[in-house]
Amino acid sequence: MKGRSSELSTLGRSITAHAPARLALVGSGGSGKSMLAAALGHRLSRFFEGRIEWFRVGAWDFATLTEMLALRFGVSRGASSSERAEHLRRFFARTGPRLVVLDNHEDDRATARLLDAFRGSPVTFVITARRCLLAGVLIYPVTAPLATLGQSAFPRVKALTRTLRFSPLALDIADSIVGSRGAGVKALQSFLEDNGVSRVVAVEHEDDLPEVALLVEWAWQRLSVESRRMLTVLAHCEGDHVDAESLAQLARVAKNSQRALEPLERWHLVQEPVKGRFALHAVVRHAVRRRKSFDAARFYEHYVSLLEREPGRLEPEQTHLFAAMDHAHRTGNLNAMLRVESLLRDIDA
Ligand SMILES: Nc1ncnc2c1ncn2[C@@H]1O[C@H](COP(=O)(O)OP(=O)(O)OP(=O)(O)O)[C@@H](O)[C@H]1O
Ligand SMILES: [Mg+2]
Repeated sequence: MKGRSSELSTLGRSITAHAPARLALVGSGGSGKSMLAAALGHRLSRFFEGRIEWFRVGAWDFATLTEMLALRFGVSRGASSSERAEHLRRFFARTGPRLVVLDNHEDDRATARLLDAFRGSPVTFVITARRCLLAGVLIYPVTAPLATLGQSAFPRVKALTRTLRFSPLALDIADSIVGSRGAGVKALQSFLEDNGVSRVVAVEHEDDLPEVALLVEWAWQRLSVESRRMLTVLAHCEGDHVDAESLAQLARVAKNSQRALEPLERWHLVQEPVKGRFALHAVVRHAVRRRKSFDAARFYEHYVSLLEREPGRLEPEQTHLFAAMDHAHRTGNLNAMLRVESLLRDIDA
């Protein structure tokens, strides 16, 4: 974590002096919002006596959001989302001040409804978002660390700072490529220039960052088929982080899975938000998805059967269950929906 001490103390004070607070860290893809939120949680851990919870929310709707909170806090699901919200309100009132981070907020209406439902509760909400059209929430703009001062947060690849337009995500990947002697700064610079890093192009959306896509391209040329398959699985997974075993199964690299994972870790292409569990940054994800497709039904089958076999693994795998539910809804597959429903009922019982 580099170059964020003043932001951290400002944010920390703004929360401790006004808890429960509602704050949105808003900035472009890869600008460092999630990392800042994680550091903030760490800093405030004592203030909230350890009651800090992290949820990756994406575009879930209000019903799914409350399902997710109820599952995590062990609160009864109730018959409807408003009943569930009422159970959650009582739980929050009973358990005291806490910090809830909603990472990657996308749906303004759903998040507004959620935050408003807990207006009187002692819960401080920090949301991270590329953009955020919410009133009643303090908006805190996040830019790449040190960018506004024109300084580099990554000394080893300082010469690439402007080429990569201060993107901490791109600089972090470039730094790990150089640090692991994958390429020298000059060679990497030429590769980027030769492939058009300085061209002005219209991008598709916030996750479309040519700087990062080019670094992924550099790596892709050097990755084994097995490593590429792992990246592809992670790029298409709609749930959150994936444990090493599921990753190996889904990527069909049962043998040598550690060897396939190694270069992805070395070049910081994968993140490990929880020990032994892997995810891609949304921007890397987008770059990989453009190269390779993957059959989404395989995630459904993998995770629904895993939880049917081992319902005890619900906690770490719950986002995959929601993704399975979402997949069933989207494809309009009634049997798939019923199977998830029955699984949820079993878990609830
Ligand atoms: N202060 C920092 N010091 C060092 N590296 C950083 C810092 N901030 C961000 N990074 C690097 O940039 C990457 C992207 O940061 P992060 O995931 O927090 O971005 P984000 O704004 O949440 O992106 P998104 O909008 O896609 O969710 C991190 O994984 C890390 O490699
Ligand atoms: Mg993020």
